[in-house]
Amino acid sequence: MINMSEVLNNNAPEKKQVIYSAVQPSGNITLGNYIGALRNFSLFEDKESLFCVADLHSLTVRQDPAQLRKRSPSLAALYIACGLDPEKNIIYCQSHVPAHAELSWILNCYTYMGELNRMTQFKAKSQQHADNINAGLFTYPVLMAADILLYQTDIVPVGLDQKQHVEICRDIAQRFNSVYGDVFTLPEPYIRKSTAKIMSLSEPTKKMSKSDPDESFVSLFDDPDTIRRKIKRAVTDSEAQIRFDPENKPGVSNLLTILSALKNQTVEEVEQSLSGLGYGQLKEAVAQTVIEEFAPIQARYKEIMADKTYLPTILKENAARAQYLAQKTLRKVYKKVGLYQP
Ligand code: TYM
Repeated sequence: MINMSEVLNNNAPEKKQVIYSAVQPSGNITLGNYIGALRNFSLFEDKESLFCVADLHSLTVRQDPAQLRKRSPSLAALYIACGLDPEKNIIYCQSHVPAHAELSWILNCYTYMGELNRMTQFKAKSQQHADNINAGLFTYPVLMAADILLYQTDIVPVGLDQKQHVEICRDIAQRFNSVYGDVFTLPEPYIRKSTAKIMSLSEPTKKMSKSDPDESFVSLFDDPDTIRRKIKRAVTDSEAQIRFDPENKPGVSNLLTILSALKNQTVEEVEQSLSGLGYGQLKEAVAQTVIEEFAPIQARYKEIMADKTYLPTILKENAARAQYLAQKTLRKVYKKVGLYQP
């Protein structure tokens, strides 16, 4: 269960809350995505929740079209395999709901270049893809704001790297509301402090990222041997003492964080259970725990993908549910800004 003191921001009001989050289908979903985001999605069972495959966002970096076409339904299947019920929640692809792109245009006109220039992800991605600094990469947070605001979202469960994007979304919403009245609900990020940033296995001072080399992350699709091999090779240090100290021992601390998250134990409890043991045993414990966590998800994922009609049907139905909700907000926005609608 959630320990509320762990939540960085949580002052949402008492009403049927709307939860919204999304993941880009731009690579293999990592253990970092799982612990930082996906795993937290199902904590909100009794709320109105929407979980989106952010396929439009992924176009900001060049994608292989054939791969992207496969990755989108695959990610939706993964949401369901991770325990999200597509009848209770709305699981859909962003590009199936045109209102996202439509609201995004309007919000572009209420967002300043200076604000977007300050986004750390834009700066990082511009360096990473220096040959393709496109306008979409720059206005990426505006599309994300549209995603969130279309559904009058209260809570956005994300990892730490998305905090700044939720903040700019709030700023845009506040600016819009101050001109036109209470059109948008102001969202709060939901970020679990302890697992907000899972680090790379090969460079533990950097965030684990699906766009980095394969050996730096564990993917939700890795088989047990691959998981074991990758974790065995994880960078640690020469002190040979299992101790949580992110500054001086980032590699070991990252492994302890992963273990504590998956075992639902505190880092201290995990540290204690491993006291006197070596790094080899720590890595074996992490690998075994990850393998056991992923096994049922992978089995369910295979079942979902084996049924050729299930997923397309679900995604179509859910896109229609999302479009219905989104359209209500969009109509209101069009009216407020003065677009003629006969
Ligand atoms: P994306 O696809 O990069 O990542 C998906 C989610 O995983 C979290 N995450 C991590 N958490 C902890 N440790 C890590 N190493 C780690 N790496 C990734 C991310 O914070 C994110 O929650 N812009 C978003 C997708 C998006 C979105 C939205 C999210 C589009 N529209 C609306 C929320 C609401 C993104 O690129 O996430």
